[in-house]
Amino acid sequence: MVGELDKWMLMATARAPTNIAVIKYWGKRDETLILPINDSISFTIDPDHLSATTTVAVSPSFQEDRMWLNGKEISLSGGRYQNCLRELRNRAGDFEDKTRGMQIRKEDWKKLHFHIASYNNFPTAAGLASSAAGFACLVFSLAKLMNVNEEIGQLSAIARQGSGSACRSLFGGFVKWTMGNQANGSDSIAVQLVDETHWDELVIIVAVVSSRQKETSSTSGMRESVETSSLLQHRAQAIVPNRILQMEESIKNRDFSSFARLTCADSNQFHAVCLDTSPPIFYMNDTSHRIINIVEKWNQHEGIPQVAYTFDAGPNAVMIARNRKTATLLLQRLLFYFPPSPDHDLNSYVLGDKTILQEAGLESLNSIESLEPPAEAKANVSSQRHAGDVSYFICTRPGKGPVVLLEDDEALISSQTGLPK
Ligand code: DP6
Repeated sequence: MVGELDKWMLMATARAPTNIAVIKYWGKRDETLILPINDSISFTIDPDHLSATTTVAVSPSFQEDRMWLNGKEISLSGGRYQNCLRELRNRAGDFEDKTRGMQIRKEDWKKLHFHIASYNNFPTAAGLASSAAGFACLVFSLAKLMNVNEEIGQLSAIARQGSGSACRSLFGGFVKWTMGNQANGSDSIAVQLVDETHWDELVIIVAVVSSRQKETSSTSGMRESVETSSLLQHRAQAIVPNRILQMEESIKNRDFSSFARLTCADSNQFHAVCLDTSPPIFYMNDTSHRIINIVEKWNQHEGIPQVAYTFDAGPNAVMIARNRKTATLLLQRLLFYFPPSPDHDLNSYVLGDKTILQEAGLESLNSIESLEPPAEAKANVSSQRHAGDVSYFICTRPGKGPVVLLEDDEALISSQTGLPK
């Protein structure tokens, strides 16, 4: 007997990315199964910068299913967790390890309990699709542990029942969630359009925007939109189907101009639907609007889009730059308008891939202070600077899908105690 475990324990650890939609999912036709009213398309973000890591463990010593998120125990009693666990238990396979004298038959999984520990490598409070990475990782790691012999697409339909957008985090690169039309949701799954190597020039810069107010959750926000917005119906039926085809085409051809126009238009339409909801929902704030202006004025000045922007259910901006050169020009603009507040050092203000900061020649606070307003500012954007309005930036890129982590030191649960390390 070791620690509090008096029987064997089996574990699996995985890491799964978050994703950002360029054609948005907003509105369900089935609240329990989480079936959407339109297709959506996203890109997966490099897991080195934004991902969830989850260890799942099973042992006859465990008395109940338990979960810890970022070190704090949370309840698994919610319907979404229960649905995912039930679907996975129904698909579990046999497991045998003769050397350790372990045997689990398919039907045993229904009686065994799990300990689950998960953590995000970014602040949960930042509002960066943590539930997408979290549910994708939970489903992926449990499927490995339980020998679930299903295609990733089928696993995506299980992750979807945890959080809709989570189904798109089961793949890297660009991903489409097809809404499907079956009542049981069996065809509402994610498919990979292209992997992360297809368009590897793209650079992503996320602005985590300071916000004091607690936002409406996506779940309740979209429910209110379905109930009250007629623009939502129009969008789902008359706009999105065509946009999906155009977006697929521009991704396939790496046509940045078309990609950027569609991405910005769809983000703006999603926020228009939020305004069309009664009572209206405001996810973007003054800083978000300022960022849109900066990008729009610059794109207009250059004649062709340099950068696309998109906003989810919160004020944070996700910007996609055509290539590294435009990413450095973008970062210069962003740091001109949103310099760090006096108590910040640059190292904690620009996170992720810091090489872009070097390429932009912005390695010191002095170099930021002496930035000149961009050329297009002279025409008509104000060149007022807003220190403190952005909490920090993350520089990243499109990335790969979930992976299993095999090293013992990557596990979040102790093999001695069966509890989080
Ligand atoms: C604006 O997937 O968080 O980010 O299915 O209720 O869990 P639930 O909602 P969620 O909604 C995401 C909404 C969005 C757009 C998108 O990711 O497509």
